Amino acid sequence: MNDTLKLLKSHQSIRKFKADPIPKNFIDEIIEAAQMASTSSFLQAYSIVSIGDMVVRNEIAQLSGDQKYVTSAPTFFVFCADLHRLSMACKKHDVPYESGYTESFIIATVDTALAAENAILAAESLGLGGVFIGGIRNNPKRVSELLRLPEEVYPVFGMCLGFPDHAPGPKERLPRDVIFHEEVYKEADESLMNAYDERIRNYYIERTHGKKRASWTESVSEKMAHETRQHMKSFLEDKALNQK
Ligand SMILES: Cc1cc2nc3c(=O)[nH]c(=O)nc-3n(C[C@H](O)[C@H](O)[C@H](O)COP(=O)(O)O)c2cc1C
Repeated sequence: MNDTLKLLKSHQSIRKFKADPIPKNFIDEIIEAAQMASTSSFLQAYSIVSIGDMVVRNEIAQLSGDQKYVTSAPTFFVFCADLHRLSMACKKHDVPYESGYTESFIIATVDTALAAENAILAAESLGLGGVFIGGIRNNPKRVSELLRLPEEVYPVFGMCLGFPDHAPGPKERLPRDVIFHEEVYKEADESLMNAYDERIRNYYIERTHGKKRASWTESVSEKMAHETRQHMKSFLEDKALNQK
């Protein structure tokens, strides 16, 4: 295995951080690495907002479901899908800007996620750790207000970064043959899934000292059985996104 593969395969979300700030040159490297991610049609349809103001951070931590690491992390970024700049480019060249397409919304969201993954991997390569915070979509309207996001810019997720103060260890993913298909899609092999379920159950039992005992399918079915952030549809439409 080369160093890049070792890095990719050792990913683990970090939720406890040392107090040491991240050196500025590390931040620069992380942002530059994020910017080098592939981007649909070279649109670069994202923005990254760094939040230093602890009053703002506290509010974001609370609205994200009281996720304490949003405030304890030395650095917190909000990754935003950004079509605003593209509308400005159209204005500059006096061409009509077609807003509201689901396709543009997908492009901007994917661009944002690719940049963010580059960012977290770059951070990990520098000895840092981090975690994505989808919890900010509990109240994307308020996050947009706090960050003064214009129309056609929406907060996709946050990211806590800092020097790790724990090592929870990599979480075993689904068996390769369940997610990798050759030529055509196939349903997952039941015995592979059952064995994976038990390994994840044991992982949770060990990691939570018995508090959480769910298998993988129990855990995800619990999540999928509930309504999820129903406000997102109208929020995006109000932002002139995902309308048609
Ligand atoms: C888009 C996205 C949003 C996430 N949101 C949260 C979050 O709000 N809080 C949290 O603790 N972890 C969050 N996570 C982290 C996942 O729970 C984590 O990646 C997953 O359980 C796998 O664990 P690992 O990253 O340690 O391998 C998020 C991950 C992604 C990709």
